[in-house]
Formats: sequence, structure tokens, C-alpha cells
Amino acid sequence: MFRFGVDYYPEHWPEERWPEDARLMAEASINVVRLAEFAWSFLEPQPGCFDFDWLDRAIAILHGQGIQVVLGTPTASAPPWVMAMFPDSYKVNEDGHRRTYGNRCEFCPTHAGYRERGRMVTRAMADHYADHPAVIGWQIDNELNGRCYCPNCQSGFQQWLQVRYATLEKLNVTWGTAFWSHVYTDWSQVPVPVETGGVPNPGLDLDFRRFMSDTFAGFQQEQVDILRQLCPTHFVTHNFMSFGFDQINYYDLAKPLDFVSWDNYPRTGWHLVKEADHAYLALGHDATRGFKGKPFWVMEEQSGSGGWQTVGMTPRPGEMRLWTYQAIAHGADAIIYFRWRTARFGTEQYWHGVLYHHGQPGRRYDELKSIGSELKRAGEQFLGAENRNQVAMILSYDTRWAFQGQQNHADFSYDSLFGSYYKALHAHNIGVDILPPGADLSRYRLVIAPALYILPDEPAERLRSFVQNGGLLIATARSGVKDEANAVVDRYLPGLLAAVCGVEVEEYDVQPADSTIPLELALPDRETLSAQARLWFDVLHTTTAQPIATYQSGYFSGSPAITLNRFGEGKAIYVGTLGDDALHDAVVDWALQSIDLHSAIHAPAGVEVAERWQGDERLLFLLNHTDQIVEVPVTQSYADLLGGTTVNQSVQLPPYGVSVLHNQA
Ligand code: GLA
Repeated sequence: MFRFGVDYYPEHWPEERWPEDARLMAEASINVVRLAEFAWSFLEPQPGCFDFDWLDRAIAILHGQGIQVVLGTPTASAPPWVMAMFPDSYKVNEDGHRRTYGNRCEFCPTHAGYRERGRMVTRAMADHYADHPAVIGWQIDNELNGRCYCPNCQSGFQQWLQVRYATLEKLNVTWGTAFWSHVYTDWSQVPVPVETGGVPNPGLDLDFRRFMSDTFAGFQQEQVDILRQLCPTHFVTHNFMSFGFDQINYYDLAKPLDFVSWDNYPRTGWHLVKEADHAYLALGHDATRGFKGKPFWVMEEQSGSGGWQTVGMTPRPGEMRLWTYQAIAHGADAIIYFRWRTARFGTEQYWHGVLYHHGQPGRRYDELKSIGSELKRAGEQFLGAENRNQVAMILSYDTRWAFQGQQNHADFSYDSLFGSYYKALHAHNIGVDILPPGADLSRYRLVIAPALYILPDEPAERLRSFVQNGGLLIATARSGVKDEANAVVDRYLPGLLAAVCGVEVEEYDVQPADSTIPLELALPDRETLSAQARLWFDVLHTTTAQPIATYQSGYFSGSPAITLNRFGEGKAIYVGTLGDDALHDAVVDWALQSIDLHSAIHAPAGVEVAERWQGDERLLFLLNHTDQIVEVPVTQSYADLLGGTTVNQSVQLPPYGVSVLHNQA
């Protein structure tokens, strides 16, 4: 069954209303709800006194309507009594300030007492619901996030370092503490990188970010262990945030879970944007699928205006359905909308759900209902379908964290560079897998590794053999700059990629963002194009590569900026500048053409085409992200999976409309 659900908070509403909620949900074909991830005060009103009666009654009403339940462990927001019990369990911010009560996710992840209470409530819930016929799985906590700089985290960090380095000598050499005489002679001297009035040692800084990420993974693991032991038939997941969340290594966090979930808010309310950025949403889905390399759930899908203090744009008619199918196209096996009914109180009283505060069904409920009945009919055909992509991008958390510590250029953003290359692929409707460094690349034809700044031996070797065996690699400036310790390599850049790319960086220069340098881009078999280099300018010496773009001004005018190298059976393009979107588009366009990779359907701008495979059958999703009617030409006959018709020459999509076509391969 395709799971179609809502996030529901019965504890916000009088109990007399629950049957009406469940009835309306069932009428909309809702078959699953997520419950209780913020209900700790009600589950354990006093230390050790658990109360599941109210939740049992809510679940019984839902189950009576055929609705199943995913339970959240409630540790993201603790009742005041927990925090009063452990005043030192509030997170300490980077500026050394300790938080106080009133928000959520305010706990220090290394605090033994908090963790123990978290295990206790998890164990009590797991014990109680292990055999409940309505309960199918668990969400651990909620959007784990944050970093803590308290004394307890400092000693946790010191212990983590002892495991990593075994001796202080090794740590001192690895971090290069010879610099400024920071040579540690006792583990207890090692600080956390709080506001020191300067820039911390890059080795220490990166290790602290790794430690915090590992700490959250360990926090999650304790609850996973309890659930695996007590509820062996239930699945365990966690709701991740979008591609842009960069504090926890999501590849690590995904490991012990059955599948990954994420929370998708196309029109958040923090920034009022006229159009949801559909390429960025696609990136969120693709990144999420990549964290575990398999289909995922959307645990929270926007269904109303977002907003805490200000109110965001309401999803336009059709957008809920469009976002639902976009998620499915990129690998979602379940969609759960946030939230059933808009809360009347609390911080999120303007974060709207399917129903307004008044609780009466309206336009968005009607849309939910029609999506629900469509997926009841068609949803099973999408379950477990594969996204078989020939293009991969490499996403490195070590690189992200190293850039967090040292941005390199005030206008440079790793995420934006990554997004810019991703968007260039997305504009061609080419599916992308997003992989960690060191992943197996043998099934791909094109790999883009933007600014792979921290590049240890193994991932470098993967890229080398990928090209050696016939792949096409695109690498950029600020690749191979550092080793695993966040120390700069003692060789020509791009370090371990220099031979594959056939270049050596002789010099580099940076300039203000508004000072661009024109490039003459002579891609093989193409007319010469003009593009702009910006921010970062590698001056390249070609060893075996051929220049395909040269700088047209500045003291290094005439030197190569972009090169193409043959290496083994394959090729590598090195883009020695951080460029602009037009440059990335041109390079990606050429790369796709050179490996003859194109989308099965050529759609007009604003229409996304994505494909999944169910065995030999290809499912083609046409997603109209515009508010206009569009006509999409097709060159063969397809069956329209949702409409039940056959399509021959073209498909007409209404504003925000969707069509799913299929044919035998
Ligand atoms: C996140 C959280 C939810 C809610 C929404 C809207 O995704 O998981 O609890 O706060 O954002 O703000």
C-alpha cells in the first residue's frame, strides 16, 4: 500500500473532536498518521509516571478508521521538569551562552542525564506499543540538529580525540599544533572551538564538527537499539531536513535506519518567494535518496502557509499534488502532510496545516482528498521503483565543514556551487544520484565533484579509476586542497586529482564578486562562447590536458582557466574558477552531449521530466511547475497512468499539473 498520511497532534485538541478528525482523514484516504513526537509532557507528566491512556484512545479512534500509526520518540522537546532536573543539560551556543527554557531541541547531546531520560521514555513507549496492531514504525526524535560547546561536550570531545588519535603526539602532529605553540601536553587542555576572538586551528575545528555529528548519531543509536530490541517488527526512521542542513553527516545518520525520511517545505514562509524553486526541491529529494541509496518517506510535506512570526504563501491550487508527485518521481514511497490542523496556540500557530484553525474542510482538504483517492488507485505502482541514473554528484560533509571553518572567499558557498551544477543537470531533466566521497562509481557515466576540498586517498582513487575506466569527470577549483586532517597538501593542486585532470595550479587569485574575468570557452565541436570567471581564478599549467577556456584579462590573461584531459579510457574537465551559472550550464551541456545523454521527453521550460523504473517499465513523470497551461510534445505513444488514456502526440498539463506516462522498455 502507498502510505498517504498527515502529522497529527491530538493533544492539541479536545478529545470530542478526535472522531471527526479520524472520519475526515479516512474520507481523504489517509492511511497513516505520525503522532506524539512532541508529546513528552503528556506521555510522562511526572518523572517515571507514564500515561499512554490518552494516546491509546486516540490511536483506537484512528485505527477504527483503518489508519496506521508512526510514533515519534519525544526527545526533541522536553517538559520543563526534565530540564529543571538537569539545568546543565541546556545547549551552550558557540558564543559560550547557555540557553534557557522555551524553545525545542535545546538539550546538550552529550548530557548523560538527558540521554538516560530519553532512553527511559523511549523504552516505556516501545514496551507499551510493541504489539499494538496499529503501530507500524518509529521516528526517532525530530530533525536532530545543533552544536553544543558546554564543558561536558568539551570532555566528550577530548575522549573522542583519544579514540581517534590514541596519543597526544599524533594529535599534535596531525593538527600542526607547532603553529602558535599550541602543543597540547594533556588531553584536558584541548578546547572546543567557542568564540575565542580568532579562527581556530583548522584540524581542531573540523574534528569538533565531526565529533558533534558523531554525537548526534550516537544519540539516535541509543534509541534505535531500544526499538530494535523491543519492537523487532517495526521500522525505524528519522526525519532529516533538506539538502541545505549541514551540521550532521546524514550518510552516517542514515546507516542504522530502515529508510530515511525528510521534511519538505517548498514555500517556507521565512522568505516570500513568488515561485517555489523546483530544482532545489528536486535536489532535496535526490540528496535524501542518496543518504541511504534507496526510496524514502516524506514525513512532513507542506500543506498550508508556513510561518512562525510572518506568514508565507499558501500552496497554489494544484501545488500539493505537484509536490507529491515530484517527491514520488525522485523516490518517495510515502507522503505525510504537515499538519492535519493548524494549531491555535504555540510558536507555530501560523504554520498552517490542511485545515485552518477552525477545523472545517476547505480547498486544501479537497485537494488532499483527491490526491488521496488517486494514490489509493495508482500509488502501489510507484512503490520501490528505482531511480536508475547515469550521473552522480559527490557531496562531502568533511568539505562542507572545512568550508564552514574557512570560507576561502567571502562570497563563496559550497552549497551554492553544488546547487549550481545540480541545477544545470536538472535543467536538462537528467536524473542525478548524490553520493558520499568514496562511493562506488562504476555504474555512472558522468560524475560531477564540485570543490572536493578535503580529498583523502580512497575517494581520490575512486575518481581516478572512474575516469581510467571510461567515465567523464567534472572537477573544479578548490578540489584536492586538503587532506583528512584539514591540512593543505604539499603538492601542486588539485592535489590527488592533478594527474587525472592533467593540470597543475601554478598560482591562484581571488577577486571581489563584482569583478569578473571574461573567458573564451572553446568546447570541442562547439562554437566559441563567452562566459565569466568569478571569485576564484586558478592559473593552470597543463601537463597532459588541453585548454578549453582561457582568461581574457588580468595579469594572467591568456592562461588556461578550464581544461579537458584524456586519462585512460575517460576524460576529466577541470574548471579552475568558481564561475557563474552560465558557465556551469555551458560545461554541463557539453558534457551531456559528449556522452549522448538526454531526457526521454523534451519538455518546455518549467516542466520537469523525471523517470523511475519498475522492472523493465519506465515511469515518466511530467511535472508542470508553472502557473500556465503547457503542451509537452511526445514522439511515441505512452499510457497515461493517472488519466487512464493513451497519449500520442502531446500531453497538455494544466497549471501545476502532473502526468505520469509509461511504456515497455
Ligand atoms: C519542521 C519540524 C516540525 C515543524 C515544521 C514547521 O520540519 O519537524 O515540527 O516545526 O518544521 O515549522
